[in-house]
Amino acid sequence: MEKIGIFYTTLKGRTEYIGKLIKKEVEEQNKIMCDIYNIHNKYKNMKEYELIILLTPTYGAGALPKEWNKVLEYLESENIKGKKFALCGTGNGGFYAATFINGLRDLYDFLKDKDAKIIGETNKNDYEYVKSRSEVNGKFIGLAVDLMFSEEVIKKNIDKWIKNIIKE
Ligand SMILES: Cc1cc2nc3c(=O)[nH]c(=O)nc-3n(C[C@H](O)[C@H](O)[C@H](O)COP(=O)(O)O)c2cc1C
Repeated sequence: MEKIGIFYTTLKGRTEYIGKLIKKEVEEQNKIMCDIYNIHNKYKNMKEYELIILLTPTYGAGALPKEWNKVLEYLESENIKGKKFALCGTGNGGFYAATFINGLRDLYDFLKDKDAKIIGETNKNDYEYVKSRSEVNGKFIGLAVDLMFSEEVIKKNIDKWIKNIIKE
């Protein structure tokens, strides 16, 4: 595989930190180069990658941050049919148990409509929350990062997820 592009948005820095952990995992354990960008300014670089990882927090009781609006507007005009995307949502399953990582679903629905290929669904075992729109057929549509989890668990989940998406 050629390089992977990671694109994130963040309000308080946690999602950026998770993005950097993912980059480290891809590069050190899997020997694949990886670039990371804040979508604030660099979203058009998506063109350069065969596999794109999108990372987002959820805010406002279940909402996708508005920073994505211009990115989706841009992708709307691009042909992304068959292009591979993997999704990762950060959130808090304890405080926001009924809308856990909900925002990720908006990215998923958009990409599905554009016939992009979404890879990297994960099991929801071991997560504690009540409801999430980011479940489809009993699985998360991407990697769920509950920021209440220990760093050790988060790293283990990232490691497993990366190995799976590279295989796919
Ligand atoms: C006002 C507010 C609303 C939030 N709503 C949700 C939510 O609906 N679902 C969820 O999983 N997390 C929710 N969170 C938790 C954030 O998603 C989590 O802290 C975020 O991943 C941090 O990302 P950042 O540091 O990159 O901004 C909320 C946090 C705040 C402060």
